[in-house]
Amino acid sequence: MKNLKRLLSIALVLVMVIALAACGSQQTPDSTTTPSAPAEQPSQAPAEQPQTGAGKKVGVTMPTKSLQRWNEDGANVKAALEAKGYTVDLQYADNKQDVQNSQIENQITMGCDVLVIASIDGGALGGVLQQAKAANIPVIAYDRLLTNTDKCDYYATFDNYGVGKMQGEFIEQALGLDKGAKGPFNLECFGGDPGDNNAYLFNQGAMDVLQKYIDSGVLVVKSGQTKFPDQIAITNWDSKAAQDRMDNLLTAYYADDIVHVVLSPNDSLAQGIVASLKSAGYGSAGKPYPVLTGQDCDKINVGQIIRGEQSMSIFKDTRVLANQVIAMTDAILAGQQVPTNATYNNGVIDVPSYNCEIKFADKNNWKELLVDSGYYQLSDIPDAQ
Ligand code: GAL
Repeated sequence: MKNLKRLLSIALVLVMVIALAACGSQQTPDSTTTPSAPAEQPSQAPAEQPQTGAGKKVGVTMPTKSLQRWNEDGANVKAALEAKGYTVDLQYADNKQDVQNSQIENQITMGCDVLVIASIDGGALGGVLQQAKAANIPVIAYDRLLTNTDKCDYYATFDNYGVGKMQGEFIEQALGLDKGAKGPFNLECFGGDPGDNNAYLFNQGAMDVLQKYIDSGVLVVKSGQTKFPDQIAITNWDSKAAQDRMDNLLTAYYADDIVHVVLSPNDSLAQGIVASLKSAGYGSAGKPYPVLTGQDCDKINVGQIIRGEQSMSIFKDTRVLANQVIAMTDAILAGQQVPTNATYNNGVIDVPSYNCEIKFADKNNWKELLVDSGYYQLSDIPDAQ
């Protein structure tokens, strides 16, 4: 099963890279560009939008409220749909796939015209998706692909492979590896939830950059743990589990040495990793914080960037993703061509997809990217001034 997942992930990467190359939107290492044709932002949307959704109902299911981003995703999608006249049923599933499956079942029963699903374990919705198929309800996978099913009509996401690649390239540049720095630098790697297809793509993207430096001995993984998911996955993207694993690594391998770089695929893990590093005395003279990656630009993590505890975080503008989903929903229900720019193979079918572009925030640009753009208020961010 794990081998199958790994193979699937590699196939997905290949398909995605080919699709991106074909539409000329592949990112350069330093890319901080905005999507070429982003839809307008819901927070600035005029109230008098055409009411394309009048009389239509959309069921939206999100994985959990425990991570900041999904709260924003849910709120943005709901607001953008409602601004167009849609009725919205928004549900959160406390990271339990069986709970989400019942929520979707309810939405089918209540007669939703479209289902938007951000899954927990993308391969574990089988039965409920077949019910949607039987009821002829279009399904849009939101940010996470629905795998091993023939019922996933569209997929709206960010450039997931690009997320990992950007994190790998950030590390490469921060350590000067691309300029020939020889280190050796001690690296430890973390991966996301094994039920989330994105986690495979993040890991693949980062390792495609970093593996050559591990092979040449410039990056040294003292624990020897680099395999995703077997050795480095963190179930449910849980901060405390990441903290515990970092504690164990520091105790077992860094009693007389320091870690120079930690690959973290997202911000919830980076929060746990920073907590662990802090309690081990990092951030003091002679023990600087390692280069540490992240993703989502959660407010807490932007504070960590400002304080020098975390180096970067990939910014996924959930307003842009929300608008892409609304554009897809409108087009599906109007029988028009649905906007796509990529294809993901989910193990059964090629899913027509839209990859929104990504950027990264670091200590130099966080304010411009996150505050000046109106995404956050300055007062939202700890230690910002
Ligand atoms: C991924 C998502 C990331 C991150 C993570 C944890 O699927 O792409 O942005 O939020 O889940 O929820």
